[in-house]
Amino acid sequence: MKEVTYEGLTFEPYITREKIDSRIKELGQTISEECAGQNPLFLCVLNGAFPFASDLFRACEDIDAEIAFVRLKSYDGTGSTGQVKELLGLSDNIEGRTVIVVEDIVDTGNTIVRLIDTLQKKNPAKIKVATLLFKPEALEHDFKPDYVGFSIPKKFIIGFGLDLNGRARNLNDIYILKEN
Ligand code: IMP
Ligand code: MG
Repeated sequence: MKEVTYEGLTFEPYITREKIDSRIKELGQTISEECAGQNPLFLCVLNGAFPFASDLFRACEDIDAEIAFVRLKSYDGTGSTGQVKELLGLSDNIEGRTVIVVEDIVDTGNTIVRLIDTLQKKNPAKIKVATLLFKPEALEHDFKPDYVGFSIPKKFIIGFGLDLNGRARNLNDIYILKEN
């Protein structure tokens, strides 16, 4: 694996596809055990979470489960804007259901906390949050994700769904911004 460059910024390899794969399988096993018999609805937060959601959902093949999508946007370049825009809402009825929100990353927590607020109004039985990545030091809310792939420092990363202005989502591994 080598360094990659986008918009003049250099990124170095950080988490390999192999590590991501095996961690997602573990998460899938845990979720399958904890949510068996509940027919959970996986709620993929587009755009960033789609590779993770795709793998996690299929890592839960032993249980009955469904998937739906919402689209939110809060980042501009390498920094959070503090505002969360809903670009595609949820039409599914989630009343009485177990909902597993699937995120690529929880950074400040603004996006996930706002989404949970919106979902609560639709009276689900419970809401769980699965995130591939978590930056505990960046968190600005009293919130803890239920299923975390990797906890990472407060640095900017790309790949496996995570983007820099829409680019780099198709990288199979995760890369971290190089500081010099
Ligand atoms: P939050 O609302 O600050 O928690 O940010 C959540 C969203 O910001 C994520 O779903 C990502 O789309 C984006 N984001 C946060 N950190 C990163 C990063 O390091 N790289 C790319 N996108 C990020
Ligand atoms: Mg996102």
